[in-house]
Amino acid sequence: MKLAIIYYSHGGHTKKMAECIAQGMSVSPVEVRLFSLDEELDVAYLNDCAGIIFGTPTYLATAHWRVLEWLTTNHSVKLAGKLGGCFATAHYAQGGSDSAIMSLAGILLTKGMLVYSGGSALGKPFIHHGPVALDAVGNHFEEAQEMFTIFGERFVEKALELF
Ligand SMILES: Cc1cc2nc3c(=O)[nH]c(=O)nc-3n(C[C@H](O)[C@H](O)[C@H](O)COP(=O)(O)O)c2cc1C
Repeated sequence: MKLAIIYYSHGGHTKKMAECIAQGMSVSPVEVRLFSLDEELDVAYLNDCAGIIFGTPTYLATAHWRVLEWLTTNHSVKLAGKLGGCFATAHYAQGGSDSAIMSLAGILLTKGMLVYSGGSALGKPFIHHGPVALDAVGNHFEEAQEMFTIFGERFVEKALELF
């Protein structure tokens, strides 16, 4: 099974969290590849994917325009029917990361994806809309990394169950 993470990262925080998720997803029989929106995407690979996770920095309490732009203008990667997930990085707990995630999740629903966060029912770590890492609040950025890896594990479990 093929899975992917598509993200935009200007300062490296969102990239680091994409790597933590990929670590959790790297289990047999899954192949996972990461795609930065600064690089050319492998459209053939992405079309073969059963699931794609989208990652964004929070800008002005919403998703970064580069992620929104790709989702708005993409016509080559078929998203309908795939499992989807979202994550964000942000400066502050009150900085709107949940709005950023939900702005992406709404688009994924519109595109016909099956959107999955794991949900708080899976227990600790309680992930509601998607994992968030804060880069300006104490040690949160470092401490959140395990949560992102667990999110990756949960996403794979659901993808294997569904597909
Ligand atoms: C123009 C701009 C706007 C931002 N707006 C927000 C915001 O509304 N809320 C917030 O918590 N952080 C905000 N941030 C901080 C980024 O979301 C945060 O530093 C993020 O981790 C950056 O990700 P990156 O290193 O992958 O680029 C903003 C940063 C910039 C440069």
